[in-house]
Amino acid sequence: MNATSTITPAVFHELESEVRSYCRSWPVVFDTARGSHLTDVDGDTYLDFFAGAGVLNYGHNNPILKKALLDYLSRDGITHSLDMHTAAKARFLRAFQDLVLSPRGLRYKVQFPGPTGTNAVESALKLARKVTGREAMVNFTNSFHGMTLGSLSVTGNSMKRNGAGMPLVHATPMPFDNYFDQTIPDFLWFERALADNGSSLNKPAAVIVETVQGEGGVNPARVEWLQALAELCKRHEILLIVDDVQMGVGRTGPFFSFEIAGIEPDIVCMSKSLSGYGLPLAMVLIRPELDQWAPGEHNGTFRGHNPAFVTGTAALEQFWSDDALERSTLAKGERVEESLTRIADKYSDAGLTPKGRGLARGLQFEQAELAAQACDQAFRRGLLVETAGPSDEVLKLLPPLTISDDELDEGLAIITESVAAVLEGA
Ligand SMILES: Cc1ncc(COP(=O)(O)O)c(C=O)c1O
Repeated sequence: MNATSTITPAVFHELESEVRSYCRSWPVVFDTARGSHLTDVDGDTYLDFFAGAGVLNYGHNNPILKKALLDYLSRDGITHSLDMHTAAKARFLRAFQDLVLSPRGLRYKVQFPGPTGTNAVESALKLARKVTGREAMVNFTNSFHGMTLGSLSVTGNSMKRNGAGMPLVHATPMPFDNYFDQTIPDFLWFERALADNGSSLNKPAAVIVETVQGEGGVNPARVEWLQALAELCKRHEILLIVDDVQMGVGRTGPFFSFEIAGIEPDIVCMSKSLSGYGLPLAMVLIRPELDQWAPGEHNGTFRGHNPAFVTGTAALEQFWSDDALERSTLAKGERVEESLTRIADKYSDAGLTPKGRGLARGLQFEQAELAAQACDQAFRRGLLVETAGPSDEVLKLLPPLTISDDELDEGLAIITESVAAVLEGA
């Protein structure tokens, strides 16, 4: 018996806050992980279609990133540096410029806020307000931008919003793409409200949008919708913030999820898979003319997380020197889509809808509670997969982008069986 096998979930019930959530769906104690698998303290392994909610796009403990990290640590490379100059940060910035921005013809200044997605969003909102001198924001139905108060104010989910315990102000929601099942022309209300002195809409500093809403239910915006939104923002001199915290770093195929639409947001928020290793790191990309911060005006103690710069640089060099990962993500995404479509077709009376882009995929259930039941069935069969959407009605697939075809097929077979178990009692 090894030492970890005596660990049980009891300590978490006893000592950890009631706020914990994922562990309620997966009540085991995880210990090690490699590639697309996690192993618990009892030695049971689980295939991962969750990938740390989009943090582990290159899988767990990717050996190339791990070597870069271990080399760095073993030579006493600096770990923490606030925003002091470090060699690790210099290499990361250079790699990001050379491998990501330059090849795409994008010009951005890079801000490192505190190391989480919500820090990036808070920075973006603050900067947009500072630059434009306006305080109003426009967000979209079913958006998710994080848990701090500014980010919550532009987040749709009422349960999360209620957690604020105070009014969340200065944001006006607009319908996301397809909110009215294409029965109402895109941006009809937004354009009208902007033009009408009687609408009560204060001219917004910025619009914040996810190109594919992740937590909101895996809702992809159409390319034409994103293009029309970018054009509307330009015409009305409203800044466009793309929150690429979950859908960036290749999740939908290309490095940035907005590339598909050929748009250039004024501000881009990134985090999650940026370090590639699960080490916290966040970034705000700012159109150079908008970089009007005063020194230290937005800071944070953990902006200089050098191990994250090291693994982030290794990840950029390994995965973004060519388009191999992008192509394989798109191919795997199609494989997932075919499988989900087969399931939906098989149970045509159950109202199942496959959705998504790249390797951000979902299967929406008309009867919301069945999605969680299917996830539970999947867990019993050794697969981690979570739900998303305002009523948790979507079974959400977010496998590592580096998953093998065999592993992908294994997980899809488990999902097929799990849906059958729920719908047929099989
Ligand atoms: C689109 C988006 N923005 C922001 C966040 C918040 O990131 P974090 O949880 O790291 O604060 C998330 C987290 O899921 C997200 O999906």
